Order: sequence, then structure tokens, then C-alpha cells
Amino acid sequence: MKRVAWLPSLLLLIVTLHTCLSDVESNSTVEALALLNWKASLLSLTNRSVLPSWTVSPGNAQANPCGWFGIHCKGDSVSRINLTSYGVKGTFHAFPFSSLPNLEELDLSINGLFGTIPPQINQLSNLTYLDLSYNQLSGRTPPQIGQLIHLKTLHLVQNLLNGSIPEEIEIGNLSSLQELYIDNNQLAGSIPSTFGKLKHLRLLHLSTNSLSGSIPSEFGHMESLNELALYKNNLSGFIPPSLGNLTDLTILQLYENKLFGLIPEELGNLKLLVFLEWASCNNLSSLQIARNNITGRIPPELGNSAQLQALDLSSNHLVGEIPKKLTKLTSLTRLILSGNQLYGGIPMEVGSFSQLEYLDLSANRLSRSIPETIGDMLKLYYLNLSSNNFSLGIPRQIGKLVQVNELDLSHNMLSGEIPTQFQSLQSLSTLNLSYNNLSGSITIFNELRGLVQVDIAHNELEGPIPDVPAFQNASIQELEGNC
Ligand SMILES: *[C@@H]1O[C@H](CO)[C@@H](O)[C@H](O)[C@H]1NC(C)=O
Ligand SMILES: *[C@@H]1O[C@H](CO)[C@@H](O)[C@H](O)[C@H]1NC(C)=O
Ligand SMILES: *[C@@H]1O[C@H](CO)[C@@H](O)[C@H](O)[C@H]1NC(C)=O
Ligand SMILES: *[C@@H]1O[C@H](CO)[C@@H](O)[C@H](O)[C@H]1NC(C)=O
Ligand SMILES: *[C@@H]1O[C@H](CO)[C@@H](O)[C@H](O)[C@H]1NC(C)=O
Ligand SMILES: *[C@@H]1O[C@H](CO)[C@@H](O)[C@H](O)[C@H]1NC(C)=O
Ligand SMILES: *[C@@H]1O[C@H](CO)[C@@H](O)[C@H](O)[C@H]1NC(C)=O
Ligand SMILES: *[C@@H]1O[C@H](CO)[C@@H](O)[C@H](O)[C@H]1NC(C)=O
Ligand SMILES: *[C@@H]1O[C@H](CO)[C@@H](O)[C@H](O)[C@H]1NC(C)=O
Ligand SMILES: *[C@@H]1O[C@H](CO)[C@@H](O)[C@H](O)[C@H]1NC(C)=O
Ligand SMILES: *[C@@H]1O[C@H](CO)[C@@H](O)[C@H](O)[C@H]1NC(C)=O
Ligand SMILES: *[C@@H]1O[C@H](CO)[C@@H](O)[C@H](O)[C@H]1NC(C)=O
Repeated sequence: MKRVAWLPSLLLLIVTLHTCLSDVESNSTVEALALLNWKASLLSLTNRSVLPSWTVSPGNAQANPCGWFGIHCKGDSVSRINLTSYGVKGTFHAFPFSSLPNLEELDLSINGLFGTIPPQINQLSNLTYLDLSYNQLSGRTPPQIGQLIHLKTLHLVQNLLNGSIPEEIEIGNLSSLQELYIDNNQLAGSIPSTFGKLKHLRLLHLSTNSLSGSIPSEFGHMESLNELALYKNNLSGFIPPSLGNLTDLTILQLYENKLFGLIPEELGNLKLLVFLEWASCNNLSSLQIARNNITGRIPPELGNSAQLQALDLSSNHLVGEIPKKLTKLTSLTRLILSGNQLYGGIPMEVGSFSQLEYLDLSANRLSRSIPETIGDMLKLYYLNLSSNNFSLGIPRQIGKLVQVNELDLSHNMLSGEIPTQFQSLQSLSTLNLSYNNLSGSITIFNELRGLVQVDIAHNELEGPIPDVPAFQNASIQELEGNC
């Protein structure tokens, strides 16, 4: 009985609202009621102190959403909705796409939205900013997003979106787009070449998906591009030389793909290869193409990228010598070229890496002697030259590396005595000299009180075992194979 009585009164309320509000207010009333309809569909709201403001009371003639939490208006019409991080749980099923003609910004990131992004999203034709990141949205990205031609920012990071980035998205129609983040989803298929039409795109993040195929050479036409993050996909093929045309590129992250082919020489034109290395909070300017199938030589032109602070080309199939010109990268703090087939010597000019802290040239075919100038890289704390073919003696200048914490010269053809200057390496905690032809006495290590781990196996060293913890705790295997 109660229910029967209640329904007409609700109708009466709505009719009353509609009639007692003037024409000027009528649009905002429509928008208000439409938003309330969506609110009613939501399953929960973690932050309960937020949406109570979303209400129309009978006494309130102003059925106006403009004062509600998270809502901003232009005139009497909703222009911005921002409910980021308020525990909104629900779907877009009842979202009033058709009732918000002036909506320009929609930020529903970091919530519990699930289900699909419906094709009706195209009705928000004035949208310039759309952020649905960090939800559980699934299914395909509707091609209709391509009709939101005023979009400048589209963030869909970390959802469960799958399917391809279809050509039908007409991504190229979003000609105002400046930021596109769809990283951390389940996108598969190849990257449409129509991206090349996005002349204003500055930030493009498609990393951590399952995208395959090659990087379209049309990427070279996105002339405003600042950041290109394609890491952790299944991309194959060549790195298109056209990327060399992107003179504003500061971040280029391609690691963990199946890229192969030559590093295009044009990449050397990128003057500002600056990007935050994902694992670090520092502002590193770095180029990471590690763990791909890159072949060919290291282009000497990379030496022109004067801003470069980190260069990681490890675990590829690079051949040839380390170009002398690379030593012009005097801002480098990390240089990782391990796991390639580089040959020849370490360039004498290596001493000009005055900022270098981390140098890993291990597992290549480098040979000749370790240059004396290695001692000029005074900031080195990690030096790994293991598994190469370095010969002759360890230069005494190595003693200048007083910061060095980990030193690995194992698996080479080094001979002669360990220079007495080794005693200066007071920061050393890990030392591996195993599998060389080093001779002489190991009493030299008596001074290295900080050594934690030592491996000198398979040399021709002799003498009493030094009275430092690392030697006292060393296993037989780490000392064996000496005289
Ligand atoms: C109200 O809506 C009508 C129809 O949707 C539209 O023609 C009119 O311009 C709107 N008025 C305002 C003030 O937005
Ligand atoms: C809930 O919303 C209020 C009002 O905006 C805000 O001050 C508070 O930090 C929010 N709490 C949580 C847990 O998000
Ligand atoms: C939404 O609000 C949050 C703070 O609550 C703010 O950090 C964010 O920039 C806003 N989004 C937009 C699009 O203005
Ligand atoms: C919204 O779009 C309509 C046409 O699509 C246009 O007439 C109107 O000026 C736009 N409003 C804003 C605030 O840009
Ligand atoms: C995409 O996800 C939806 C829902 O999670 C699923 O039903 C569909 O099979 C998936 N499609 C593909 C191509 O993986
Ligand atoms: C994209 O633009 C082309 C013409 O440039 C047009 O034919 C197509 O319908 C547009 N697609 C969408 C989704 O608007
Ligand atoms: C890449 O493709 C292979 C098969 O071709 C598949 O097994 C693997 O899971 C894919 N990796 C990613 C990150 O999608
Ligand atoms: C680079 O840009 C120039 C001029 O815009 C163009 O002629 C050239 O073909 C582009 N190079 C590549 C490799 O795309
Ligand atoms: C690199 O190429 C070889 C074949 O040339 C292939 O076996 C290997 O899986 C590839 N590695 C990656 C990471 O794609
Ligand atoms: C990173 O750079 C920005 C500006 O370029 C600066 O404000 C910030 O302090 C830097 N952060 C670190 C950790 O160096
Ligand atoms: C040096 O490099 C080799 C091969 O890349 C690696 O196995 C070893 O652990 C590295 N040494 C140190 C001390 O990190
Ligand atoms: C290592 O270098 C020596 C000369 O110092 C050379 O005879 C030998 O062939 C090289 N070995 C490899 C595997 O490159």
C-alpha cells in the first residue's frame, strides 16, 4: 500500500520540479536528473562523504547539479565531472551520455568502474579530456572514441581493455590529441599507421600490452612527439629510421620487445633523449633498447645525444667496436652494453666518462688491454668487464677507483700481478677475478677490510689467505685453482 502511495508522489515531485523551474534552468534539471539516474545505478561508493551532495530535495527549486561534489558548470550546464579516487563502483550502463552535451572534461580515474566503455561515448562530442585510468574496464575500446574529435587527453591506463587498436577507431581523426596513455591493458594486434596523422600528439604510451607487428614508419610524422613508450610488448621488425625526424623526442622506451635490425643512424639526431627510467626515481635521460634482437653496429652518431645519461643496449646482437665517438656522452652515468658481440678494445678516451657510475661491458668479445684511462672514471661504483678476452695486466690506475663497490674482471685472459694499488679500493665489497692468468701474492687483499664477497678461483695466485672476512668466509670453489 505504501508503495502505491509513494510512486505518484515521486511523479508529482518530478512534474513539480519540471514546472516550477524556469526555462533557463530546465537544461540543468535534465542534467541533474540524468546524473542521479547514474548515481542510483552505482553499486557502492567507498567515500560516502562525497556523493550525498548529489541530490534534489523537494524544497529546492534549483535542481542544479552545478554545486554538487565533483561537478563544474559553464553557465547552467555541466562542463566537468571529476570523481577521481572516490571508490565509485559500477558501470557506464546508466551514464547519461546523451544528457551532457557540454561536458568537456571527464575524470573517473582510480575507481572501481567495470564493464565496457559503451559506444554512446561519442555523444560527449565536446569532450577534450577523458581519463578512465585505473579501473576494471574490459572489452574493446569502442571505435566511436574516434569521433571525439576535440579530445586532447585520453588516458585509459591499467584497465582490462583487450582487442586491437582497430583502424576503425580512426585514431587519426583525433587530430587535437596531445596525450594518449593506454599502457597496462591487454591490447593485441598491430599499431595502426594512422597514428602518423596525430600531429599534435606529445605523449604516447602503449607499453605493457601484447601489441605485435612493427612500429609504423608513419610514427616519424608525429612531429610533436616528446615521449614514446612502447616497452613490454611483442613488437618486432625494424626500428623505423623515420623516428630520427622526431627532434622533440625526449623519451624513447622500446625495451622488452622483439625488435631487431639496425639501430637507425638517424637516432643520433635525437638531441634530447631524456626519459625517466622506469625503475628509478631519478631524472635519468636514457635510451633503453635492451633485450631485443637489435643487430648491427652501435652508430657513432649516438655520441651526439649529449643529454644522454643512461644508455642500455644490453642483450642484443650488436657487433663491431665501441665507437670512440660514444665517449662524447660526458653526461652518462650508466652505460650497459653487456651481452652483445662487440669486439675490439675499450677506447682510450673512456676516461672522459667523468660522470659514469655504472659500466657493464660484460659478455662480449672485447679484447686488448684494459686502458689505463679506466682510472679516470672516478665516480664508478660498478665495473663489470667479465667474460671478454681482455689480456695483459690489470692497469695500476685501477687503484684510483676509490668508489668502486663491485668489480668483476672474471673470465678474461688477464695476466701479471695484481697491482699493489688495489689496496686503495677501500669501497670494494664484491670482487671477482676468477678465470684469468693472474699471478703473485694475495696478501695484497689484507687491506680490503670491506670485502664481503671474493672469487679469485682459477688463477696462479699464491700466499696465505688474507685475514679479512671475505676470504675467511670464502668457499673452496672461490679460491680453488690457484697454486
Ligand atoms: C538547452 O537545451 C536545448 C536543447 O538541448 C538547447 O537548444 C539549448 O541551447 C540549451 N540551453 C542552454 C542554456 O544550454
Ligand atoms: C572523501 O572525500 C572527502 C571530501 O572531499 C575528502 O576530504 C577525503 O579525503 C575523502 N576520503 C577518501 C578516503 O578518499
Ligand atoms: C580531479 O581532481 C583531482 C583532485 O581531486 C585532481 O588531482 C585532478 O587533476 C582533477 N582532474 C581534472 C581533469 O581536473
Ligand atoms: C558543444 O558542441 C556544440 C556542437 O557540437 C557546440 O555548438 C557548442 O558550442 C559546444 N560547447 C562548448 C562549450 O564547446
Ligand atoms: C575481451 O574481454 C572480454 C571480457 O573480458 C572477453 O569476453 C573477450 O573474449 C575478450 N576478447 C579478446 C579478443 O580477448
Ligand atoms: C574519420 O575521418 C574520415 C575522413 O577523414 C571519415 O571518413 C571518417 O568517417 C571519420 N571517422 C570517424 C569515426 O569519425
Ligand atoms: C608474445 O607472443 C608470444 C607468441 O608469439 C606469446 O607466447 C607471448 O605471451 C606474447 N607476449 C606478450 C607480452 O604478449
Ligand atoms: C623526415 O622529414 C623530412 C621533411 O619533413 C622528410 O622529407 C623525410 O622523408 C623524413 N624522413 C623520414 C625518414 O621519414
Ligand atoms: C631473436 O631472434 C632469434 C632468431 O633470430 C629468436 O630465436 C629469438 O627468440 C629472438 N629473441 C627475441 C627476444 O625476440
Ligand atoms: C626532475 O626534473 C624536474 C624538472 O625537470 C625537477 O623538478 C625534479 O626535481 C627532478 N627530480 C629529481 C628526482 O631529480
Ligand atoms: C658481470 O656480468 C656477468 C655477465 O653479464 C654476470 O654474470 C655477473 O653477475 C656480473 N657481475 C657482477 C658483480 O654483477
Ligand atoms: C683472445 O685474444 C687473443 C689475443 O690476445 C687471440 O689470440 C684469441 O683468438 C682471442 N680469443 C677470442 C675468443 O676472441
